[in-house]
Amino acid sequence: MRNRRAALAAIAGAVSLALTLSACGESGEGGSAKGGGTIGIALPTQASERWVTEGKSVVEDLRAKGYQAKLVYGQDKPDTQVAQIEDLIEQGVDALIIAAIDNKSLNGVLQQATDAGIAVISYDRLILGTKNVDYYVSFDNEQVGRLQARYIIDRLGLEEGKGPFDIELFAGSPDDNNTKYFFNGAMALLQPFLDSKQLIVRSGQTELDEVTTLRWDGPTAQKRMDAILAESYKSRTVDAVLSPYDGISLGVLSALKADGYGSDSKPLPVITGQDAELASVKSIIAGEQAQTIYKDVRELAEVAADMADDILKGKTPRINSRRAYNNGVKSVAAFLLQPTSVDRTNYDLVLVAGGYYTAQELK
Ligand code: GAL
Repeated sequence: MRNRRAALAAIAGAVSLALTLSACGESGEGGSAKGGGTIGIALPTQASERWVTEGKSVVEDLRAKGYQAKLVYGQDKPDTQVAQIEDLIEQGVDALIIAAIDNKSLNGVLQQATDAGIAVISYDRLILGTKNVDYYVSFDNEQVGRLQARYIIDRLGLEEGKGPFDIELFAGSPDDNNTKYFFNGAMALLQPFLDSKQLIVRSGQTELDEVTTLRWDGPTAQKRMDAILAESYKSRTVDAVLSPYDGISLGVLSALKADGYGSDSKPLPVITGQDAELASVKSIIAGEQAQTIYKDVRELAEVAADMADDILKGKTPRINSRRAYNNGVKSVAAFLLQPTSVDRTNYDLVLVAGGYYTAQELK
């Protein structure tokens, strides 16, 4: 156990060291500027661009406020993330900003954080089952689901009475608390059309526990879509796919293309997504994925950095959500940002004019 932890901590240490150095002052030394202190940031994975973008943003924002930052990525392995957080605590960080891989795996390690007087900010994903979480910063995740459903409703013309159409449903990782917000937000709008049979799920898989995708993994979604197409769409075509995240959307797209979708006689369904990842925005421009949800994660990073700064200066951090989020043990005060729906008609305005991507990057 100790050896495994030591090995994991060594990997964590290597990643964090590299990023700490890049987060240090011009001199490259580790000393904290203006005595601000050190903040540990534990993010889920580098396999998805959004976490890479906001890792850099949080580090830059904290550095500008005079803090040192130690950034680690758990490579989507809950045990690795626990070991990394233990390591950050041992290194004596003053606050932790954590996007959990498995929202229930952090209970023990967060008790250690509290015992050491370290404040914990739950970043993007609410950490469940522990009193040792101080604040929650995220987007309005139910609104994300509503925007995805609204897009499908508008594109299919469901409110004009069109249909019936065939739809398949995908959800995120079962161990991520956001998964249920996205899915429930979407289903609240889609359910009336399922009830009226304007929308039909041929696979019959409509319950959250039937449609989740462990660790948001694209190839896992692709396999599920392969199976659904083979079993339920031998003699028909699917018209829409509710996908909660760009990585899943691209997996679904691969399955569809392998099945001959993407021609005039067999057009691609309306496929939603989330995170405005570069590959998906390019896919939208090419007319394949239909939509994504853009969340300016630079803003999220800034809110988290401000919050950590306030906490360490003994001020009450700014929160904007009237609703506190119950994590099963306590109500956590929250700051939520608003997401934006993006498709071919507005990507230029939102993503390019908004400075998230350059026009060159989207070529
Ligand atoms: C969720 C997050 C989404 C997406 C997904 C996969 O928790 O809110 O925006 O990034 O994880 O990484």
